[in-house]
Amino acid sequence: MTNSLLIKKKLENFNKTITVSGDKSISIRWILLASLANGMSKAQNLLISEDVSATIKAVRKLGIRVVLNEKICKIYGNGIDGFKYKKNLILNAENSGTLGRLILGFLVNTPNPIKITGDKSLSKRDFKRISDPLSKFGAILKLKNKKNLPLKIYGSKNLKPIKYVEKKGSAQCKSAVIFAGLRTKGTTIIKAKKSRNHTELMCKYLGLPISVKNKKKYDEIKIRKLKKINSFNYKIPSDISSSAFFIALTVLSTKSKLLIKNVNINPSRTGIIQILKRMGASIIFKNQKTYKGEKIANIEIKGGRTLNSINCPSKLNSGAIDEFLVIFLVAAKANGVSYFKDIGELNQKESPRLKWGSKILNKMGIKTITTNSSIKIFGNPYLKINKKIVIKDYLKDHRVFMTSVIAASVFGGTWNIHDKDSIKTSFPKFLDIVNSLKNNDKKKKYY
Ligand code: S3P
Repeated sequence: MTNSLLIKKKLENFNKTITVSGDKSISIRWILLASLANGMSKAQNLLISEDVSATIKAVRKLGIRVVLNEKICKIYGNGIDGFKYKKNLILNAENSGTLGRLILGFLVNTPNPIKITGDKSLSKRDFKRISDPLSKFGAILKLKNKKNLPLKIYGSKNLKPIKYVEKKGSAQCKSAVIFAGLRTKGTTIIKAKKSRNHTELMCKYLGLPISVKNKKKYDEIKIRKLKKINSFNYKIPSDISSSAFFIALTVLSTKSKLLIKNVNINPSRTGIIQILKRMGASIIFKNQKTYKGEKIANIEIKGGRTLNSINCPSKLNSGAIDEFLVIFLVAAKANGVSYFKDIGELNQKESPRLKWGSKILNKMGIKTITTNSSIKIFGNPYLKINKKIVIKDYLKDHRVFMTSVIAASVFGGTWNIHDKDSIKTSFPKFLDIVNSLKNNDKKKKYY
């Protein structure tokens, strides 16, 4: 079976209701915290994907029993000191920056050194951003080339609380330091640029010793030593980052309508909605509710609106950090020149995404001017593609693959998109859902 996807025609307009898979950030955080709880915790709608199964494999290697089936995941925690630190332990974070970085926070007191490895893409990514603050607690981290995986962490019995200023807007750095703070006597204080706050919300829901003051530009988080985590059940909401592909697909259509059910709309994740609405898209939240501190809603999207260019304010960046590739596609069809700045962090993702974003647009015939931290996109509301486009050698970045599928589905042309397996890291059901949007009267599969 070939691992590339050939798309030769656009997707017709649709009027459908879909449910996307569980949120990846929340799934990984639930596994890590449940593995340190007292007794059995259960999750429904846990994302079943490679990043999540790598997390399960990691806590199993630390001696935690996990029972997983299609519907329910059960984790049998042995308390906050319940990890078993075997000699020469190797944890493979595979493609997951979230796993590789967050778990280090809980390993700062390991009595035996632990090696963390990753796949080709993760091994190119920056781990100094995590080793810097964690070594201030007293742990020692030895990295390849002082920056990359594989790394070895040597824990300390005498952890000291730290003061840490998180300047990148990285939820992974912030969360790793929160977890290390929970292992440390005294008060750790973080001044963090705004980023997704699932860790804080889950810790607060669990009654862990953490307090958060939301200031205008940053959050101040205080953490004290953890005594106990009670086992906890969780119904994981759907992932807005997976929904984003279908939001963009509908916004770019001439008259489709879509309802996406039960999506996590935590305000630290809804940058894409704010950006696309400012560009003229029709997107509304329905049936809003709050679950264990997280906001959830159905999202209704209508296509066919005139799309305007945007000069995107930097304050919207952190809430849209995983969605820029599809936002760029919408800008490609907007009237005028869009400008996105202060987004250098995109080049720190599974692939250098700012580069890939402009590469995809250029292949589509859209002019861009790109620097290390910004992109100008010269939109064309009449864009139609009639040529052959090949997308390959992109470090198997799942979001590059899915963005290319959306572009092919909307703008036409013949697309040969390599490394279909990349979707397994975050959204294995992606192509099935795309197929389900095809109208029932046309029996043949879209792909
Ligand atoms: C994530 C944080 C973000 C995001 C990633 C998931 C998380 O990364 O891009 O997909 O779950 O904490 P950074 O912390 O590097 O911004």
